[in-house]
Parts: sequence; structure tokens; C-alpha cells
Amino acid sequence: MRTNYCGLIDENYLEQTVTVEGWVHRRRDHGGVIFIDLRDREGLVQVVIDPDTKEAFELADSSRNEYVLSVTGRVRNRPEGTINENMVSGKIEILAKEIKILNTAKTPPFQIDEENISENVRLTNRVIDLRRFPMQRNLRLRHVITQTARRYLDDLGFIDIETPVLTRSTPEGARDYLVPSRVNQGYFYALPQSPQLFKQLLMVAGFDRYYQITKCFRDEDLRADRQPEFTQIDLEASFVNEEDIMNITEEMIKQIIKKVLDVDIKEVPRMDFATAMFLYGSDKPDLRVALKFTELTDAMKNEEFKVFKEAANLPNGRVVALRVPNGAQLSRKEIDEYTKFVSIYGAKGLAYIKVNDVTKITNQENSGLQSPIVKFLSDDILKTIIEKTEAQNGDLIFFGADKAKIVNEAIGQLRIKLGKEHGEKNGYFTSGWKLLWVTDFPMFEYDEEEKRYAAMHHPFTSPQKGHEDLMETEPEKCLSRAYDIVLNGWELGGGSIRIHEADVQEKVFKALNISPEEQENKFGFLLKNLQYGAPPHGGLAIGLDRLVTLLTESESIRDVIAFPKTQRAQCLLTNAPNQVDDKQLRELGLRLRKTAEKSTES
Ligand code: AMO
Ligand code: AMP
Repeated sequence: MRTNYCGLIDENYLEQTVTVEGWVHRRRDHGGVIFIDLRDREGLVQVVIDPDTKEAFELADSSRNEYVLSVTGRVRNRPEGTINENMVSGKIEILAKEIKILNTAKTPPFQIDEENISENVRLTNRVIDLRRFPMQRNLRLRHVITQTARRYLDDLGFIDIETPVLTRSTPEGARDYLVPSRVNQGYFYALPQSPQLFKQLLMVAGFDRYYQITKCFRDEDLRADRQPEFTQIDLEASFVNEEDIMNITEEMIKQIIKKVLDVDIKEVPRMDFATAMFLYGSDKPDLRVALKFTELTDAMKNEEFKVFKEAANLPNGRVVALRVPNGAQLSRKEIDEYTKFVSIYGAKGLAYIKVNDVTKITNQENSGLQSPIVKFLSDDILKTIIEKTEAQNGDLIFFGADKAKIVNEAIGQLRIKLGKEHGEKNGYFTSGWKLLWVTDFPMFEYDEEEKRYAAMHHPFTSPQKGHEDLMETEPEKCLSRAYDIVLNGWELGGGSIRIHEADVQEKVFKALNISPEEQENKFGFLLKNLQYGAPPHGGLAIGLDRLVTLLTESESIRDVIAFPKTQRAQCLLTNAPNQVDDKQLRELGLRLRKTAEKSTES
């Protein structure tokens, strides 16, 4: 029906007659002449309707925002002074000869180019919201990313194989979404938290290289980087080691970044887990921020100051300093705000020292160090702090002292916040794309609540060579062959080399306290098949939604998903989840223990 997309008509079409179709983005009546910005997925074009073309003029006059029009007319230059250099069609306009109204539209709940609309309103009216330029751009970029990944993996001989959605629980550490079976009453499917077990079975089946861009489902607390259903670029390969998988993944990410941002990523640095925790308190450090922790735990063990001494002597205690270049300029109010900020992560306070004069390191009145806590610290420890942090005049040093977990999170988050707020002007923040591999993860982490060890990645991750026996003796020292890829402080993806020998798998289950019955019940189908000649294999999964969020510089993962869910796991467009009829429940053999209260959230 049309000859061109609105947003793609430029000077090359001058004097040609075109037909475009799209939505009325804006309509202006300039005393006699009507201007309509007509919008389609490629952008806007200005249509001019002269009263001389009587019929077209009347139709244009009755058109309102979001009406759907067909416009035929001649392309001509815009008059001097009305040229818009930022638009493809910014130098031209279409002088309408004929207009057809293809559909009318109710007044939309908000203007398409309105900004600062609340997310609730946007998600309730998602279809209108998706018409907005940033959303169109995000979803099209997402498409470019998946196509780039598909092409890349196809070229390397990866085969796209689908795996079931109605399946058994997979052990990725979140709660499962369950689906009751009507045919087998009292039995449930679980939606996959990932295709982990199936992709390993595909390796045993001899497919050698598998990939899938697929939905995963995890019932967990939602945050800015999490959705209950999300998409992975999932891959697995046989006869590989960690280098192979890391190289394949790295090159894929590089190609994607080149394609969508035209940025060349060079070397991707690697860091082992222990170093990442030591320097940044995080296994996904944001390397755009140059600040590092200074370890003070041992130095504080015998100090007088209770706050530091007690933390240093806790079994899992940690005391660190964070030197902030030029931080002495921070106001009292700003420091109070940072203190409030770290309390979100459980920190009980935020001690600090302003370094005014490094030649006067003493706890006396005339000290070059300004702080509520210097009077509690010995001159020796003050010297140690200044030396270890390499602080200079004008710097500020923050301190965290508590259980390591709290210090790592609180000071780790503070590090990023400082970097974003003050780093650029003080030389400790570089913008750009900082990729990082984190390697040598521990096999296990101790679950304080459950009082037992849990797999840090998942129970099919291989221990490092020579670490097999540590599983029994010192599980906390046993390292795995897992790796994560991090981009600007977000965990983009993770994977591992798997266990392909039954006896090693046995040891892992033992360390995890999973009984033979439970093994058989939960993973029997995997264990059985590992015995039929499983090849050495490994893989990784990239969180697609996170990748797109980062590359589009979106604030939330919800901005790169067409129909996302809220923090309360609801779809405001369709009102899912919803209550169901008694009849449906009866068919499934289910009865609600008590009627779920009608959701009150709007
Ligand atoms: P993992 O659990 O680390 O590994 O998940 C891989 C990547 O998926 C993304 N991701 C999420 N994205 C959005 N919302 C969520 N709720 C969410 N959860 C995870 C992250 C993460 O890095 N089967 C293994 C992979 C393997 O070992 O091959 C797995 O799923 O970006
Ligand atoms: P207090 O003795 O509680 O008055 O604390 C003295 C100083 O130490 C204050 O500046 C507090 O903000 C700080 N502080 C208290 N607890 C901690 C902690 N766990 N980590 C870091 N600083 C702390």
C-alpha cells in the first residue's frame, strides 16, 4: 500500500510522489496550513496540507493524535529555517495531495513523546508505551543482538536445539515455578530455571555444540536486573576446557558490542574470585571505578578502638579502608548520606578520616587528620592506615568493620556510588565498557541459615584438578572450574566445565549432603546417562536481558522486554497472575487452603 517508510524519506526523493502510512504524532494548525508529523517505526516525516487540496485539508483537520493515515504527496524541500539536521527526513516535507483516514484513535493515556511517565502507567498501557521511540529502539537493538549471536554461533557449528518448558526442577538455586498436571493429579512440572541438565544430556547424546536463546523461570525476589522469566543465550560444547568456552563467549560479546555500538573491545582481563573479593568486595566488580579496598583486618586485631577491634576478631570479620581521592571536599551532609546508604547493606556506621596534612599523622589536637575517630586510634595504626592506603593531602578514607559479608557489600556498593557521583571529576571513574572474567570460584559456599554447604554455581560444576579430595576435608578451600563474565559491574553470564565422571559427581553430592535417594530422585536421569560415555563438556549462559539493558544504557531490565513483570511479578497489561475458577482447580485436583486475597496492588 505504501511506497516508503516515513522516517526514511530524505533529499534523494525530492520531487517524487510517495505514499506513506503511519500514526499522527503531532498536528499543528498554522492559520490556514496544517502540519502533521506522521510516524512509523522508522521515524517521523512532516506532511503539509494546503487548504487548496480541499478534501485532504478537511481530513487532516479532523485528524487527531494517533489516528492512522495514508498520505500521498510530493516530496519538497523544507523552507529555510525549519530544517532539522537531527532527522533523516529533516530537510524535506511532503506536500499532501491525498489523505485517507485508515483508522481513528481514542485519546491515548499519555503523549507518545511525553517523558517522566510513571512506570505503572507505562506498564498498564504497555502497547502505547511501546510506540515510544526509546522502546522501539531498545527492542530493535535486542533483535540485532540476538541475530548477531545466532549468526556467530551458527558459524561456529553450534546447533539450536529446543528443550522442554514443562519439566523437572533444575538446581540453579532459586524457587521453582510449578505447574500442576491435570492428567497426573497431585504431580507437578517445574518450569526450567535454565536448560542446564538438558544441555548436558545433549552433549552425552553427541551433538557436540548446542545453543539456544531461551526463556528461564525463577521465582526469586526481583530487582532492577532480575525478572521472573528472563532469556539466556545458552550454550554447551563437548571436548572443551575453560579457555575454549571463554574464548568463544568473549568473541561473541565483542562482536555484539562492535555491531551495536561500533566499539572495539580489546583484551578482556581476568581476575580470580579471591582477588575480586579482596580488592572490591564483589565477585562482579565494576572496573570503571578505580577505587580499591585496603585490607586492615590483621592490623586492627590488637587496637583499642572497639568498633574495629571487635570486627577484626570475629571469625568472619573484616576491616577495610577505602581511599577516596580529593574526598576531603565531601561535606558533612554528604558523608551523612553515605552513612545512611551503607546502612541499607547492614553497616552499623561509616567511620572516616579526612587527610589534611600527611606530615602530621597523630591523634593529638594539632593532627593533620580530621575525624571523629582519630582520638581512639594510636599514632602507629594511623601511620599504617596512611601508608597502606597511600593517602595524600585532600583525600578521605572511609572504613568498614563488620562481618566480611556486610563490609564487602556496604563498602563495595559505596565504592560504586562514589565512583558514579564523584569519580569522573576526580579521575577515578572511566566511562566505557569494562568486561572482566572472574575465575577460580569456590565450589561451595556456607549457607548460614541452612547450616550447610551449597554449590556456588551448581552441583554439576567440576572441581579443579587436585581439589577433588578437598571436598571431604576442607570444602571451603575447594575451587571449581566455573567462570563468570562481568560487564560494568553486572554479572552478564556464567558457566563452568562440568563433571563427566560418576565418582567425582558422587563426592560433590556427598559434600552437599545430598543423599543417594535424593540424588536418584532429583537427578537420576542425568546420573544414569553420565555413565554411558559422557564426553568432557562445559558451557555458559549469558543473560540476554541484562546485556541489552547495559548496551542500551537503560535504567531497568523492564525497558528491554516487550511485556515485562513488575517488582511484584505481575503483568499490569494482562493482569497476570489471576484467580481461576473452582472448576479449573477441581480438574487439576487442587483446592486452595484459603482464598487468596484479591491483590490490592494497582
Ligand atoms: P546462571 O544462574 O549464572 O547460570 O545464569 C546465567 C545468567 O542469566 C542471567 N540471569 C538473570 N537475568 C535476569 N533475571 C534473572 N532472574 C536472572 N537470573 C540469572 C544472568 C546470569 O549471569 N545453567 C547455568 C549456566 C551454565 O552453567 O552454563 C546458569 O543458568 O546474567
Ligand atoms: P560509635 O562508637 O558507634 O559512635 O562509632 C564511632 C564511629 O565509627 C562513627 O563515625 C561511626 O559511623 C563509625 N562506625 C560505627 N560502626 C562502624 C562499622 N561497623 N564500620 C565502620 N564504621 C563504623
